[in-house]
This record gives sequence, C-alpha cells and structure tokens, in this order.
Amino acid sequence: MSRSRTAMLAALTLAAGSMTLALAAGPASAGPAAPTARVDNPYVGATMYVNPEWSALAASEPGGDRVADQPTAVWLDRIATIEGVDGKMGLREHLDEALQQKGSGELVVQLVIYDLPGRDCAALASNGELGPDELDRYKSEYIDPIADILSDSKYEGLRIVTVIEPDSLPNLVTNAGGTDTTTEACTTMKANGNYEKGVSYALSKLGAIPNVYNYIDAAHHGWLGWDTNLGPSVQEFYKVATSNGASVDDVAGFAVNTANYSPTVEPYFTVSDTVNGQTVRQSKWVDWNQYVDEQSYAQALRNEAVAAGFNSDIGVIIDTSRNGWGGSDRPSGPGPQTSVDAYVDGSRIDRRVHVGNWCNQSGAGLGERPTAAPASGIDAYTWIKPPGESDGNSAPVDNDEGKGFDQMCDPSYQGNARNGYNPSGALPDAPLSGQWFSAQFRELMQNAYPPLS
Ligand code: GLC
Repeated sequence: MSRSRTAMLAALTLAAGSMTLALAAGPASAGPAAPTARVDNPYVGATMYVNPEWSALAASEPGGDRVADQPTAVWLDRIATIEGVDGKMGLREHLDEALQQKGSGELVVQLVIYDLPGRDCAALASNGELGPDELDRYKSEYIDPIADILSDSKYEGLRIVTVIEPDSLPNLVTNAGGTDTTTEACTTMKANGNYEKGVSYALSKLGAIPNVYNYIDAAHHGWLGWDTNLGPSVQEFYKVATSNGASVDDVAGFAVNTANYSPTVEPYFTVSDTVNGQTVRQSKWVDWNQYVDEQSYAQALRNEAVAAGFNSDIGVIIDTSRNGWGGSDRPSGPGPQTSVDAYVDGSRIDRRVHVGNWCNQSGAGLGERPTAAPASGIDAYTWIKPPGESDGNSAPVDNDEGKGFDQMCDPSYQGNARNGYNPSGALPDAPLSGQWFSAQFRELMQNAYPPLS
C-alpha cells in the first residue's frame, strides 16, 4: 500500500496528459513496461475471486445458491495444498481460474498463509503438520514455492491479498508466559522465535512481489481489545515487520476476526454507555475490555499501528463470514436499564456464552456480504473463513494433517482460562477443522444478518 502515492501520480499524469504533471510524476510514469504499482486499497474497483470448490459445496445445500456466488478465501493450510491435495485445486489452478474470472477488470484473490511451525499453539483443533523447530521446511517447502508461483508474470495483473498466519503473533503476546492462559506450546514458540522468524520471512518474501498485499492477522476485539493486550501486540507486529528482512513496506494492513464470530458492530450498545452511573465495561460480558465490536477495534488498532511506525495508508479487513447473529434470538433493541449485566446481555447481538468461544458457535449466522471500503480505515468486509467449513471436531478423529482434538469443540466441555471457564457453545457432531459441516452451514444461512433473500 505504500506505493499508492506513485499510483495516484501516474494516474493523474495519464488523465491530464500535461507536461507539468508528467514531470512532477517523475520516473514512476516512465512507460508501459513499469510493473503495476500497488493501490491504496486493493478491494476498491475490483471484484473478488469466487472459489469454485467452496461455491459447489455451498450450492449443494438447500437454499445454498443464495450465497454460492460469494467470494471466499483459499486456505493454504498444508504444503500439499500448493500443488493440490485430495483431488482439490492447487494454487496455480486457483490463480488460472482467477484470471478467467478477472477478464479485463480488476480482481482480488485472497489466500490464507497458514502453516507455521508449531501452528495453533493455544489450541489443538488446527495444529499443523510442521513441528515447533521446522522453520527451514516452512521457508523452503512452503513460503518459497508459494512465492515462486505468485511471482509468475502470468499473474501480475491479479491483486493478491494474503492473510498472514492467523492467531500466531497474538498467541505469543497473551498465551506464552506468566498468565493463567499460558500454554506450553506457545511458550516454546516464543522461546524458539520460529513464529516471529516465519512471519517475517513470509512478509518479506511475499511483500517483494509487487501485486501482493500482506495483511497481518490481529485476532479480534475479544482477544486483544484490552489496552494491556493491544499495546504489546502492536509492538510485536512492528517488531516482526521490521526484522529478519521484513519492512513496513511489506505490510498492507491487518486482518481481524479471521474465522471468529465477533460482530462487526454491536448496534444496541457502545463501550461508553453507562447504566445507573456504572460503565458497561464492568459488566460480566465486556469484562473491562476497551471495545465491544470489531469495527471500533480495527480502527483503533490501525491508529495505534500507524503511531508505532506502520505506513499511514494501511487498512484493516474484517472477516464477516460468520458474525451476523441474526435469526430469532437477535435482540431488536437495547436491554433493560436495571443493571449493567441486564443491559449488556439484553442488548448484545453476539449470543455466545463467552467472547473467548471460537469453535463452531451455536446460533451464529452469516455476516455482511463482502464489500470494499465499508468504513473509515477498513479496506473490506470479507469472508476469509469459508462458511460451512468446521472449526474443529467435537470428538477425537484420526487424521494425517497433524490436527488434534480441542475440547472447545465439544459441546459438553465446561471451558478453560481462555474462555473464563464457560461452556464451549459448540455445535455437536462437527467434523475435522476445514471439512464441510453441513448442519453448521444451514444454521449460518438461517441466522444470516443481513438476512438472505
Ligand atoms: C481451519 C483449519 C484449516 C482450514 C481452515 C479454513 O483453520 O485448520 O484446515 O483450511 O480452517 O476452513
């Protein structure tokens, strides 16, 4: 995104055809062979890639044709997904299909970069194939081949958005030492530095490709929203974006709410509301958080990141695939002013048991359909988690992907420190993470907000 100024000047030059402007634009306007400059917000003026494989699954469900033409991200969650595994399309096939969909217009393809060593250190459902020390394999067998493909000149006209390693840096900040949420696996990944080195490597390798836009995953408000988490997180993002060869110019922005359920906006209460003179921040639900929804969190994160040294034209994308919370349980106005808890619980559209719940949440619905530049500082509402793909199995399942069984996906589990020892709120009978979960998809459609027509 740092090259937006160049793009703007080049555009002005073309539009005006004036000698003065052409001179002012300098070498950036030097002729047709110059590589396409990055634009400020890749989503503006572009359509988005519809993954034919997800689309077919969606269309196979009753009423699924109402959403089957929506764009979703492609998750490269194993080395084998680069070439294609289990009969599925590989990266080149997706990009070739993207060129078809693009035609003569602009098109954004969204990829999730998700295969760090020791992946998903605070949970088990998305544990990955690489062990904690396998940084070299991450670089040479995962990032390098992806970078090789993305830098093929055939694909230079695509706007390629990458969401970089969901949950990884946030886990280092909150789950890697000194608190009751700490896990041994996260402590290991912090100590060996392989999340940091891996993310820096991904940023620099992919950021070197002119049509790639890297968005660093920044969890969600219910994880990093407390000032005591957000400040250190921004420092961590900055550290990783400025070491091991990476630079802030490799960063287009941040991705929030990836595969989570936090609402974009809570329409019926705000964090500054009070009830009988008491701030809603002291309600059980808000629990002193500084934010109650994703958009306010994303905008604050953006400001803090710029203050910390990121480029001022960064933007944030919000995963709205499953944060709609419509259906019959959706409140239609603010709750009663009898106590902060009654007010917040009656107002909130987020019907989870606890904001730390993340696995196949019961009652959730599809959220805002993908949209470019919906609000200040927000590059897009977009569907990163393909709706209908499970977050994790509700009982142990043998597999060859390294995935474990996380009790947060078991509806009868009573929780841990990371969800305040509350019930998991997960749907029953869920398959392995990433696999099609028909019952969840149907419920997501049922509870979509805006509703499906
Ligand atoms: C989860 C899974 C991963 C899948 C992704 C998208 O993170 O672990 O395998 O690709 O979700 O559904």
